[in-house]
Amino acid sequence: MKKIMSVLLSLTMFFGLISFAVAEDSALDIQFNADGKFKIMHITDTHLNVDNVDASVFAIGRGCDLEQPDMVVITGDNVENHQDTSETKMLIDKLMTVFQSRNIPVAVTFGNHDSEGDCAMTREELMAYYNTYSCSVSVDDGPTLSGCGTYNVPILSSDGGKIAFNLWIFDSNDYDAVGNYSCVQADQVAWYKEASAQLRADNNGEIVYSLAFQHIIVPEIYDVLKKVDYKGAYIYEHHYNAGEYYTFDPAQENRGTLTESPCCGYENFGQFDAMVAQGDVLAVFSGHEHTNTFSVKNQGIDIVNSHSTRYNGDAYSTQYGYRTIELNEADTSKYTTDIVHWYDIFTIADSIELSQAGDSFGSQVARSIAFQGVFQKLWNQFTYIIVKMFTGRTVSYSY
Ligand SMILES: [Fe+2]
Repeated sequence: MKKIMSVLLSLTMFFGLISFAVAEDSALDIQFNADGKFKIMHITDTHLNVDNVDASVFAIGRGCDLEQPDMVVITGDNVENHQDTSETKMLIDKLMTVFQSRNIPVAVTFGNHDSEGDCAMTREELMAYYNTYSCSVSVDDGPTLSGCGTYNVPILSSDGGKIAFNLWIFDSNDYDAVGNYSCVQADQVAWYKEASAQLRADNNGEIVYSLAFQHIIVPEIYDVLKKVDYKGAYIYEHHYNAGEYYTFDPAQENRGTLTESPCCGYENFGQFDAMVAQGDVLAVFSGHEHTNTFSVKNQGIDIVNSHSTRYNGDAYSTQYGYRTIELNEADTSKYTTDIVHWYDIFTIADSIELSQAGDSFGSQVARSIAFQGVFQKLWNQFTYIIVKMFTGRTVSYSY
């Protein structure tokens, strides 16, 4: 058991000055375990609605029980209802109860859909509602920053004596003035630079290694994909530049799968350049594209995408799931990560076991994923092999 300790540290910018606000009443400790390990579960694009919520939260709970994460990070497009506030809250309740009941700290930020539409709860209202759960370590950054949900979560050393690692959580906003996907804005970039420098200064001038999380991917992903001038299987047109096509670059360090065009913001206020300059961010994790699971390195930073974390009851969504990220206090300049699909964690044996335990709903979800997942997995593998056979291109790397 980890010690109970308040560690939520919020950095706010006010008239150009940085101040640290410590939430003394947080009952959740965020620190490396006694064995020096720390495990994060990345959940994104749950897109919960009345049709998929029960199966999705069951699957997420099963993932939590298997992984035993020390913390969960949720990166937007969390619930789909934008008309009925009581239903939106019900969907959030079902999601947050998964973590509250297991005492897992959760950091939340938002995507392009969370506050979409005239009747939707605002990001500030949503954040306040998530924060009615004591497992939430999320922060409304207040009116001085664009969006809602740009903050950091320091991870203390196992002895609690210092900040050993850090998570940057960015609200990448929703849409720009002309309807393109948005991005982290200039004021948020300025906040990050100041806060990163402050963390380093407070660590005797040594970098506090960090991971960044946000909904919308940085546009620099296109710099490390291979640009080609033809269409083809698993070759995707640039989200904004017609006639430019991209695929994995065999000269790069590629991991995972590219199955959709990366939908970054059209504008770019220098977030990625700032992270390169600060030197603290090992990887930036996003969602938004529901089946992309790649990790591609750019200037020392891994640009990573995680797949959607929901189960819609069909074969296609058995390939969804979550990402795990593991840290080791002995060397915080590295991390390991893995993708877990729903079809990886549900078997017919699980279905039988759940049935015998009296959980008929869980048994039915497990059976459905196990059966449908076999076909989805085979189809995925078949298409990757066919592309490799006829084009020589690798379109899926290891996970
Ligand atoms: Fe999205």
